[in-house]
Parts: sequence; structure tokens; C-alpha cells
Amino acid sequence: MTIESAIPVDGPVTVALWRACGLTRPWNDPDADFALALDSPSSTVLVARGASGIDGSVMVGFDGHRGWVYYLAVAPDGRRAGLGRALMEAAETWLRARGAPKIQLMVREDNHQALGFYQALGLEPQKVVTLGRFLKDDS
Ligand SMILES: CC(C)(COP(=O)(O)OP(=O)(O)OC[C@H]1O[C@@H](n2cnc3c(N)ncnc32)[C@H](O)[C@@H]1OP(=O)(O)O)[C@@H](O)C(=O)NCCC(=O)NCCS
Repeated sequence: MTIESAIPVDGPVTVALWRACGLTRPWNDPDADFALALDSPSSTVLVARGASGIDGSVMVGFDGHRGWVYYLAVAPDGRRAGLGRALMEAAETWLRARGAPKIQLMVREDNHQALGFYQALGLEPQKVVTLGRFLKDDS
């Protein structure tokens, strides 16, 4: 098993993994999300390659202030064997190499399995509310 930055041809398999892990939402375009992360020098998608293909992924990016994690996914039949932890460690290594002082992420409040996982890794809830809206297309 190796964890490394994805390349463009990894997109379909990685997005299929995200779908299998329940990470996609109708208002997001996961193929575009994958391509955008690979296009920027300040973000990437790390994938875990095993004998049977891509077994896990994590998107990571540094906005110049904080490091952010998205699309952490471990294939359902590969869980509870340390791969999620290894992917988060790889994301931390990627962020440290770019000088990011902090790693943070958003979890849906009803995703109890992920909350249990992050708690086991020592991540703590932050006292903030996340606000946002999609940017309008000016063109
Ligand atoms: C969350 C997820 C990535 C965890 O991956 P994993 O490979 O099973 O996790 P690991 O085996 O590395 O577990 C690491 C630690 O978290 C704990 N953990 C894992 N899943 C857990 C769960 N459902 N509840 C509580 N703790 C959990 C493990 O016990 C382990 O702790 P330990 O090392 O002290 O024993 C995986 O369940 C997943 O892909 N879920 C669906 C997608 C998702 O919700 N992603 C997060 C979006 S924010």
C-alpha cells in the first residue's frame, strides 16, 4: 500500500469511491472537485494504492492560513485497519511540508462514525459555525 498524490486518470475510480462512501451531494460535482484540486499547486488528492486499486483517498489543501481536509474515504471493506489514520497522517505530512500550522475539516453533525474516528485521532470540535454560499458566475 502506498499513499501518493493522484494523477488525472485516477479521477473516475476515486469519485466512485467517494460515492460508495456516501461523500457526494447533489449540489457538488465530484469530478470537477477532483480536477480542481489537482489543478492547483496548493491542493491535491492523496490516494492509497493497494493490490486491488485505490482503497482510500483524502483531499487536502492549504489556503495560506489553515490546512483543510475533504473527501476522506476508506473503502467499506477496508475499514478499521488503520488506513483512515494513515491517510490523515499523509495529509498532515503534506500540510507540514507547506508550512501550514493547523489542520481542520468539516464533518456533517450526523456523521457519528466520522466523529468517532476524528476523536480517536485527537481532533477536537471547534467553537465556530461555518457559513458559505456558492459564488455567482459573472461571465
Ligand atoms: C471515517 C473513515 C475514513 C475511517 O477510516 P478507517 O480506515 O476505518 O479508520 P482507522 O482504521 O484508521 O481508525 C483509526 C481510529 O479511529 C477509530 N475509528 C474508526 N472508525 C470509527 C468509528 N466508526 N467510530 C469510532 N471510532 C472509529 C478506530 O478505532 C481507530 O482508533 P484506534 O487506532 O485507537 O483503534 C471511514 O469510516 C470512512 O471512509 N467513512 C465514510 C466516509 C466518511 O464519513 N468520511 C469522513 C467525512 S468528514
